[in-house]
Amino acid sequence: MTRHLITSAIPYINGIKHLGNLVGSQLPADLYARYQRGRGREVLFLCATDEHGTPAELAAAKAGKPVAEYCADMHEVQARIAEDFRLSFDHFGRSSSARNHALTQHFAGKLADAGLIREVSERQVYSNADGRFLPDRYIEGTCPNCGYDKARGDQCENCTKQLDPTDLIEPRSAVSGSTDLEVRETKHLYLCQSALRDDLDAWIDSKGDWPILTTSIAKKWLHDGDGLQDRGITRDLDWGVPVKKGAEDWPGMEGKVFYVWFDAPNEYIAASQEWVDAGKGSDWERWWRTDKGADDVTYTQFMGKDNVPFHTLSFPATILGSGEPWKLVDYIKSFNYLNYEGGQFSTSQGRGIFMDQALAILPADYWRWWLLSHAPESSDSEFVWENFQASVNKDLADVLGNFVSRITKFCRSKFGEAVPEGGSFGPQEEALIAELTTRIRAYEGHMEAMEVRKSAAELRAIWVAGNEYLQSAAPWSTFKEDPEQAAAQVRLGLNLIRLYAVLSAPFIPDASAKMLAAMGTDDQVWPDDVAAALSALPAGHGFTVPDVLFAKIADDDRETWQAQFAGQRQ
Ligand code: MF3
Ligand code: ZN
Repeated sequence: MTRHLITSAIPYINGIKHLGNLVGSQLPADLYARYQRGRGREVLFLCATDEHGTPAELAAAKAGKPVAEYCADMHEVQARIAEDFRLSFDHFGRSSSARNHALTQHFAGKLADAGLIREVSERQVYSNADGRFLPDRYIEGTCPNCGYDKARGDQCENCTKQLDPTDLIEPRSAVSGSTDLEVRETKHLYLCQSALRDDLDAWIDSKGDWPILTTSIAKKWLHDGDGLQDRGITRDLDWGVPVKKGAEDWPGMEGKVFYVWFDAPNEYIAASQEWVDAGKGSDWERWWRTDKGADDVTYTQFMGKDNVPFHTLSFPATILGSGEPWKLVDYIKSFNYLNYEGGQFSTSQGRGIFMDQALAILPADYWRWWLLSHAPESSDSEFVWENFQASVNKDLADVLGNFVSRITKFCRSKFGEAVPEGGSFGPQEEALIAELTTRIRAYEGHMEAMEVRKSAAELRAIWVAGNEYLQSAAPWSTFKEDPEQAAAQVRLGLNLIRLYAVLSAPFIPDASAKMLAAMGTDDQVWPDDVAAALSALPAGHGFTVPDVLFAKIADDDRETWQAQFAGQRQ
């Protein structure tokens, strides 16, 4: 049977992620991992923090901590929030791990052996006061084109002109403000991606089933302009993976590190090694090495659209270029952007709702349901408070929550807290079973295809079908003339709660667990046979009436939150 390797793009270490980040990678990856586990398939679901690069160094400086300490602390923070959002990673690794250092240096060595790395001499700005080379965007000065005095070394934000740092008038370091800058000659390694262009092209062409968003971005970078460019894979920074050729020193590269985008994707593999090191698994190679059994693995990656070039071209270039039998990705599910109330979510501007803030006001399931049912799949989508309130109140409280509450309370009042016996299913029940069978098969199809919104819509329709049945069967009326038939209706209703718990677990795992607990069962077997699934809880089986599954969001609360999140995060 197919085994599923699933990875989510690894979030940057420099701060807590916002809901736009969450819905673009980690959350849909979790949905898929939970679904595949629910179907009884073997899953390895990995994520990690992306810890290198200048933004990490600057965030650490701002927090007044050494960068290694900052990353260790922030990793813990992100790990805890991920758990609170019920992201079910088998391991949440760190790109700064010893495993990733070794693996990244290993790949660089193999690429060098294959003749795919060349040295390039560059002139770059060095800040004497900061004691370091400055990346272009960390040099500020006056724009030669429009006179704007906060232009960056890569571009002027005011007139949008693309700049070189040396174009700036009165350049200064954005790190310290120092003007004591000079241009120095420095050597860097370039990965000859262009040599792999035909291989990459053929590989992408073989993926006819990929989403258009994924292939169109990949093809654009392969063919537009000059086509696939060789790219620098080293930087003059302190924090990162030291440049080495395998375990050996790399003459001329002392004091340099690999570029963050060269080391980060390798962490997908390194995370599986960390997973073994942590005692959670015993064999990472059977997931990653096609010579060690990974041929029966289906590997799926989840990411936002800005990450697509790195996953369709750069990372595969590393893997193919190494000449070793590593598993390549089978399917790349990419997402557009989620906007926030008429603008963009922004980490740098603190705009929108961040994961910790979301959980401070409502439990994970509320957010998971809204985000997934409004995932930015075919286009960008937008978070609007009124819409969030309406979806939660309608789908979760009125449809699902109300169903569970009505049936359990009615049963308790008329039959007691056990599944009632007597009566049998008639045409109405048969019709419901037929409808559910069709819908559940459709739901499975959408989930297999990672059609997130369609899956959510089908699940909602499955909840609605139960509600409509309850409304028309009306056991509270039936009970007066025919208590036996009412018993059969209620028995079906209680079994539906278990069925809903199983089907809904990938979207709303906490509510699902509560429903199962209330039904006094941990039978989570997938309903391949719907009729059989609806008699899993036999007559006499005890249950309890659960607390309210989903509270409605009141207008007052919604207005308070709307105001609270209107400005910038402090
Ligand atoms: N940290 C990057 C981002 O948030 C994603 C890195 S994904 C990996 O956009 F491939 F590098 F792992
Ligand atoms: Zn300008």
